[in-house]
Amino acid sequence: MSELVVEGLSKHFGGVRAVDDVSFTVGDGEFVTLLGPSGCGKSTTLFAVAGLDTPTGGKISVGDQVFFDAARGLNVRPERRNCGLVFQSYALWPHMTVAQNLAFPLSIRKVPKSERARRIDEALSLVEMESYAARYPHELSGGQQQRVALARTLVFEPSLLLLDEPLSNLDAKLRIRARDWLKQLQRRLAITTIYVTHDQIEALALSDRIAVMQGGKIVQLATPQEIYRRPTSSFVADFIGSSNFLKGRLIDRSPEFEAVVEVQGSRFAAAWSPQLAPGDDVLLAVRPEHVRLSAKRPVGVNGNVLQGRILDRSYLGARYHYSIQTSGAAIAAETEDLLESPDVFASFAPEHAVAIRP
Ligand SMILES: Nc1ncnc2c1ncn2[C@@H]1O[C@H](COP(=O)(O)OP(=O)(O)OP(=O)(O)O)[C@@H](O)[C@H]1O
Ligand SMILES: [Mg+2]
Repeated sequence: MSELVVEGLSKHFGGVRAVDDVSFTVGDGEFVTLLGPSGCGKSTTLFAVAGLDTPTGGKISVGDQVFFDAARGLNVRPERRNCGLVFQSYALWPHMTVAQNLAFPLSIRKVPKSERARRIDEALSLVEMESYAARYPHELSGGQQQRVALARTLVFEPSLLLLDEPLSNLDAKLRIRARDWLKQLQRRLAITTIYVTHDQIEALALSDRIAVMQGGKIVQLATPQEIYRRPTSSFVADFIGSSNFLKGRLIDRSPEFEAVVEVQGSRFAAAWSPQLAPGDDVLLAVRPEHVRLSAKRPVGVNGNVLQGRILDRSYLGARYHYSIQTSGAAIAAETEDLLESPDVFASFAPEHAVAIRP
């Protein structure tokens, strides 16, 4: 069992709380992503798990092995944690061939020579690089180097895989292929994984669960679907995808709709409103792709309609992006429809609206 448990983890650099009382678990074989903007504490958290940095406080354990416990003054050395770490810069040794790069972690771990060749072959075949064993890193493409870096980690059969932006050096197309391939490999090996990225699409595509970080804290930890559909804060709603925010007040909860919100004198229904009570100021969050535009007021729709004027339209290929001025706020809409008249009605379904704390 390689379940990772992080409890109350903190890391302070002088006055900077890089990681501030962070707790989470990664189940055996689970893929959890730490997602957040630059400087939010992702790498610091990962390094603490790997043992490359001594935390200020907290406890980290994997299965029944405690890696770090500030209260007991316990700190297991990185080489005894059996973590496989892959960085953004693959850091392959340039003077060693692919096979020698993979042999190195095995010799450090005193794996018998007789077994090394077999393990190297196995790891290279996992990343589909068997025929490149004799090449030097400079004779490989970026994507191939990235696979070798991963193989060098998998070769010693780590109990935990820690990946810090491993795909960010790849161009856009290759990055998508590498992402799909990494996901399949991780699922096949069922290796407990923490993945660090600031790329929300990558996080949504790869993860079993996503921990969204902001200012050294985890602000939401949930499945990709939940993070996208049920954000609990405006930060999460806008960092993962993008959202329109309408200022309003929660006026009611009803059995039919989770929340009824008054915005600009009109009533709107939202299907989700965590930790809010009637009378609270709220932001009604709606994603641009969920806003429907029509020249006529939509019929049979009760509420959730804003009247406005198109300020700008841009062509995005698959759809159009519209900026619309309503009486209270400018909102964005993305739709395949080409609207000719500047006067429009913008509407959205209650299940696509979320009422959150401002
Ligand atoms: N060795 C250090 N000394 C002082 N401050 C540090 C040190 N390492 C990190 N920090 C600070 O801690 C905070 C978190 O840094 P961290 O590297 O964990 O961010 P990150 O989320 O990985 O960002 P990025 O996406 O840019 O890699 C930042 O404010 C950073 O400046
Ligand atoms: Mg980082």
